Amino acid sequence: MIFESHAHYDDKAFDEDREQLLSAMPENGIAYIINVGASLKSTESTIALTRKYPFVYGAAGVHPNETGALNEERFAWLGQQCRQPKVVAVGEIGLDYYWDEPSRDIQKKWFERQLELAEEVCKPVIIHSRDAARDTYDIMAAKGASEIGGVIHCYSYSADMALDYVKMGFYIGIGGVVTFKNARKMREVVEAVPLERILLETDSPYLAPAPYRGKRNSSLYLPLIAREIARIKGVDCEQVVRQTCASAKRLFGIKDEQTAGTPAFV
Ligand code: NI
Repeated sequence: MIFESHAHYDDKAFDEDREQLLSAMPENGIAYIINVGASLKSTESTIALTRKYPFVYGAAGVHPNETGALNEERFAWLGQQCRQPKVVAVGEIGLDYYWDEPSRDIQKKWFERQLELAEEVCKPVIIHSRDAARDTYDIMAAKGASEIGGVIHCYSYSADMALDYVKMGFYIGIGGVVTFKNARKMREVVEAVPLERILLETDSPYLAPAPYRGKRNSSLYLPLIAREIARIKGVDCEQVVRQTCASAKRLFGIKDEQTAGTPAFV
């Protein structure tokens, strides 16, 4: 049973067939999905999805590039959403200096506030960090993130830094990038990080694994990612699927037993 730790099924890329696609997940071996909010609007649509599908859980949070829209009133609203029972994490939150807006000061301010919120509601965080390795780590260390816990989603930094996050008690989210031909750095990360600290994710509709690179992604491609991790680690694909599912359930505090068919190893 596969645990998808990061997807955006509220994205307009799924407007045409969302219902059909999501309904078919369990029979295709996808037992759990975390739909991740990235703005106030997508937090709202995430919660709607968690109400509709028993196997969909949510994360409520504002992506760094969307933090320009935050103010105290909206932040208070976000805090209420984070307290909903099927919201299992605060995210995705962090820093993104690739798109570099709004200003770094605004991104940092709301990253810190959302880390505090996670601590307050006792839920782990889902971290988005791009081209901001040092600042992300420093803010997390200063805010006592080891007490909060969570996952570094779509991890893109060095193997050494991944191990620093593991020491901080975090998990490393591995997605389609690991299957790309030029993904030497990602393969080093997978080699270095213990399997017990890896989570599977797609970031659908983005970052489809090879051979679907550039196409719309979905959780149905997770077996391709699990297979590549298994190859790098020299273990069975089944072991990767089982371990990542157990780890994600523990991190997100999910006790429900969902059922799912055997994944199609595409
Ligand atoms: Ni995402």
